[in-house]
Amino acid sequence: MKDRRKRDVVSWNRFFWCTLFLVFSCVLFSGFTFSTFRFFFFGEKFHPEIVSTWRTPAMEALSGDSSAVPAPSIRETVILPDQVLVFLKYPPSSRLFTKEDLLCVYLSANKSSSQSQRRLPPNHIDGKDVDDQIVRCPLIPRGYTVSLALKSGGYIHPGPTHKWDSLVYEALIDRDNTTVVFVKGLNLRPEKLSNASRFECVYGWDFRRPKFLLRSQVISMAQEIVRCKTPLSVLGAPQMVNSSVKASIRVKGRGTLHSIARPGLRSKPQPGPPERKPHKMCICTMLRNQARFLREWVMYHAQVGVQSWYIYDNNSDDDIEDVMESLVQAGFNISRHVWPWIKTQEAGFAHCALRARESCDWVGFIDVDEFFLLSSGVKFA
Ligand SMILES: *[C@@H]1O[C@H](CO)[C@@H](O)[C@H](O)[C@H]1NC(C)=O
Ligand SMILES: *[C@@H]1O[C@H](CO)[C@@H](O)[C@H](O)[C@H]1NC(C)=O
Ligand SMILES: *[C@@H]1O[C@H](CO)[C@@H](O)[C@H](O)[C@H]1NC(C)=O
Ligand SMILES: *[C@@H]1O[C@H](CO)[C@@H](O)[C@H](O)[C@H]1NC(C)=O
Ligand SMILES: *[C@@H]1O[C@H](CO)[C@@H](O)[C@H](O)[C@H]1NC(C)=O
Ligand SMILES: *[C@@H]1O[C@H](CO)[C@@H](O)[C@H](O)[C@H]1NC(C)=O
Repeated sequence: MKDRRKRDVVSWNRFFWCTLFLVFSCVLFSGFTFSTFRFFFFGEKFHPEIVSTWRTPAMEALSGDSSAVPAPSIRETVILPDQVLVFLKYPPSSRLFTKEDLLCVYLSANKSSSQSQRRLPPNHIDGKDVDDQIVRCPLIPRGYTVSLALKSGGYIHPGPTHKWDSLVYEALIDRDNTTVVFVKGLNLRPEKLSNASRFECVYGWDFRRPKFLLRSQVISMAQEIVRCKTPLSVLGAPQMVNSSVKASIRVKGRGTLHSIARPGLRSKPQPGPPERKPHKMCICTMLRNQARFLREWVMYHAQVGVQSWYIYDNNSDDDIEDVMESLVQAGFNISRHVWPWIKTQEAGFAHCALRARESCDWVGFIDVDEFFLLSSGVKFA
């Protein structure tokens, strides 16, 4: 008994000094380690502010003094075979930049080269959300990294860069609370279910730092679509829905794939299936530079009873946004989803089906040059 008391005293003493030390450390290094400490203390609770550490250098580089207009940072860069996607993140409620404001900057890794920087105008800019804007830059020359510059002056630092041949590129939380993860580069045999026990799902911000990751079980996988059990702390954190937690896949014995997939970004978890879905018949389509056919195609299908359209846009650079805007103004329930990925039409349709399932009884998958032909007078509804 006496012994135990003594031990208690010692540990209280130690506790006091530890607390003092910790408080001291926090005060000293608060700017630098604040997010890390918070992560330790609150364990699994996700907090989206972590990414803001990426913003600071960009803001400094752009402004030179901290009171200037907040600027975006580069969240990720993906090198596709024919172009480069640069994903931007703006501070909340900033004005978004347009194609006219920005330049793609190519930096040579070779410092001794005199021609170490090139600048080109971007091909296109997609997205109207501070958390989800994509700049499409012309293809990267070998040995260069891509970043952006403002025409008005100012430079945005490059972000983490990923190659397309091995990447987790989309993820969404399904209505049964599992995460559906879309992967490129697993090279599984087609037409075959894979043995899920070789794989594991991981959630976190930075997959190079295994300490800060949550792991979960793969429920099933077919081709390059993986269904994961979503960790409860990911489901439970409402901030996570539009923040920066990413999902990836670990191949046991081979490491974790790069990922840009934020499961909460575009589809919010549904509170169970609604009693009655708002639409009877919907259409998913994938297109590229076919805006000029869109109006006729939508109006025709509205006539035969289609109520909603999901447009998966594979890198269009025509006026599709304007055409869609005018269709929405005219009362059509039509939405665009940017799908810049290569040779992933089936995955895109699977993604669309998961989204459409929440609001549609039936979903058709057709191209913009295809038309449902029903006997005259017959409608879907
Ligand atoms: C770097 O640039 C210099 C001058 O242009 C060139 O001589 C050298 O071979 C380059 N090095 C690499 C690794 O590309
Ligand atoms: C999904 O997760 C949420 C939040 O944890 C919970 O309220 C809901 O009941 C879950 N739904 C299903 C189908 O498990
Ligand atoms: C999957 O792999 C595990 C271990 O690698 C093995 O024990 C199991 O039998 C395999 N399952 C199937 C269905 O092949
Ligand atoms: C999430 O999105 C909502 C509305 O889109 C916004 O009000 C909220 O501030 C966002 N939360 C975070 C943590 O970004
Ligand atoms: C389309 O319909 C869905 C489901 O009713 C609704 O949530 C969405 O806001 C509608 N979108 C437009 C552009 O009308
Ligand atoms: C999108 O278009 C590019 C170029 O035509 C093509 O390589 C790619 O496979 C297309 N993506 C899909 C999902 O069809």
